[in-house]
Amino acid sequence: MRRCLAAVLGTFVLAVASVTASAEESPGRTLSEAAGVPWPTVIAHRGASHDAPEETAPAYLAARDLGADYLEADLQRTKDGVLVAVHDDTLERTTDVAKVFPGREKAPVSQFTLAELKRLDAGSWFNAAYPERARSKYVGVRILTLDELIDIAEGGGETPGLYLETKAPGQFPGIEEDLRKVLENRGWLNADGEPQGKIVLQTFEKSSLELLQKSMPKVPKILLLWVGDGYLAAKSPTTFAQSGEKIKADFYARQEVKSREELFAWLDWAKANGALGVGPSVTLTARGDQSYMDLVQPWMNQAAHERGLFVHAYTVDDAVDFDQLSKAGVDGFFTNRTDQLLRFLGRPPSQGVGEVLKSVGY
Ligand code: G3P
Ligand code: CA
Repeated sequence: MRRCLAAVLGTFVLAVASVTASAEESPGRTLSEAAGVPWPTVIAHRGASHDAPEETAPAYLAARDLGADYLEADLQRTKDGVLVAVHDDTLERTTDVAKVFPGREKAPVSQFTLAELKRLDAGSWFNAAYPERARSKYVGVRILTLDELIDIAEGGGETPGLYLETKAPGQFPGIEEDLRKVLENRGWLNADGEPQGKIVLQTFEKSSLELLQKSMPKVPKILLLWVGDGYLAAKSPTTFAQSGEKIKADFYARQEVKSREELFAWLDWAKANGALGVGPSVTLTARGDQSYMDLVQPWMNQAAHERGLFVHAYTVDDAVDFDQLSKAGVDGFFTNRTDQLLRFLGRPPSQGVGEVLKSVGY
């Protein structure tokens, strides 16, 4: 038992030591802190979404009270013009849209009014998908508006920032300005438009980064990186369908950016167009449906740092990956498991995620 405890403590000390050592050396720390972004950065991906339905109140309340630096959300716009937090283009995976609005399950979020969205149960799917983490109080939780997400960020003892993505911005012309107006109305942009790192804006789309930069030039922004059509060019033109792979994560794991020059061109473009950081994808040790291309190799992170860009990698939940990627130069993580990342970083939450969920009413 003592040997076991010693081994656990040894691993913990090593993990903290590795983070501390890289803290002293990392240009990413300087870049992050200059932007008012905590380092290493803990970004609660869709909230504490390993333990609660993604992008809903319990997920964000738990992430807030665990101590995440940022609550991450994917923003879309309702038919009547309200910004809401929903990841997928359709409501099929994460709500009971098929039951409430039969025939509209493939319809985009933009075809629903807020009143319609508020009729959907955005929690029961989680209980069915993850029975070992199910909670009866998740039944009937609702889709959140951006205003409601801000209420959560402002409403506790912990005061996380917001890490907001313009999702599928091509479907939502003007969403960047809509976002600015909400943030301004809620006092999240100060007089000269500078929120000192309490908000980070993110997008996969170059056109949306340009519009965000125009709208909110002083708010930190990152360009999310992806290899594929319309994004970084791939070394091989073979598609998933042509590849013969059965599992998408295995296909992504083999995908490489076309050349060093291709990556450098994207980094240069991001820097020239107002980004302070980049968000590259990760190939996870355990794979799974959030395991993508490996865009976090040490030379890639170094190239970002050399251009004055910090690196926030998506989406990482396990200590083995936190450790390896911290050593590779990553400055922060999107994570579904805020509690695990905080433990890895030597900032353990005072309560476990189960206790936190209970304390916020779930
Ligand atoms: O926004 C970073 C990360 O969330 C990108 O992946 O698909 O979960 O939005 P996704
Ligand atoms: Ca996202």
